[in-house]
Amino acid sequence: MLDRFKRRINYLRISVTDRCNLRCRYCMPENDPCLLRHEDILTFEEIQQVVAVSVSLGINKVRLTGGEPLVRRDIVDLVAMIAAVPGINDLAMTTNATLLSRFAGPLKHAGLQRINISLDTLDPEKFRHITRGGEIQKVHDGIAAAKAAGLHPIKVNCVVKKGAEKKDADQVAGYCRANGLEVRFIQEMDLEKGDFGIVEGGTGGDCRSCNRLRLTSDGKVKPCLFSDLGYDIREMGIQQALEKAVGNKPEKGSVNQQNLFHNIGG
Ligand code: 5AD
Ligand code: SF4
Repeated sequence: MLDRFKRRINYLRISVTDRCNLRCRYCMPENDPCLLRHEDILTFEEIQQVVAVSVSLGINKVRLTGGEPLVRRDIVDLVAMIAAVPGINDLAMTTNATLLSRFAGPLKHAGLQRINISLDTLDPEKFRHITRGGEIQKVHDGIAAAKAAGLHPIKVNCVVKKGAEKKDADQVAGYCRANGLEVRFIQEMDLEKGDFGIVEGGTGGDCRSCNRLRLTSDGKVKPCLFSDLGYDIREMGIQQALEKAVGNKPEKGSVNQQNLFHNIGG
């Protein structure tokens, strides 16, 4: 599908849950993150149907995000269901990796090709602070399991605070070099203020070449992270929601006052 600005839309990011086992300061409020009701969350069948219709409209690349996708029950089954849709030639996931050590092998087996892992610092104390309680060792274990399972490439997303010293980012870069991982630096964004930038080493943030749509875990197709537009697949039907999202994809991002990162995916 081409949008109004001649961008070819071939990438669908699917948020499979708004829940997470961490509470990163830039992503989730500490208490009461205003979670969706279980009955509003899309079923696996609904997600698979969205993927199938998306393929018929030109999508060939899918990424699963959250919240944390690995806290969604039976996530491996969902990966297998999506991998079974003909026409998806790139199937990836973004995860905090704290649960990855037990899932990496089964995910690969189910058809997941590659993985992006969030890691902003190598310092266990800082990690605990940023994530409000996370244990960095679990991330290391998850990365090791992903390598062993043959998920490739493994990319590390490193969020850098504006104006902060680059020491943590430099250390993460060194760690990635030493371990055969690709690293991408993401400037901390603010949805409400419309504050975003180009992702260094990645494809995000450049509105002129943006090829994405997003599906929220409660079934809204959103054309842009920095926009309140969203089209409900249950209300409109899948094809219409997808077509509307492409047809109304804004030229560039502005602000999003309805969502936080944990309920729209990173
Ligand atoms: N700014 C930039 N990236 C964010 N993420 C979550 N919140 C933010 C934010 N405020 C991204 C991180 C993480 C992914 C899950 O979401 O890159 O790796
Ligand atoms: Fe969870 Fe990722 Fe958000 Fe951190 S950034 S709270 S790990 S979804």
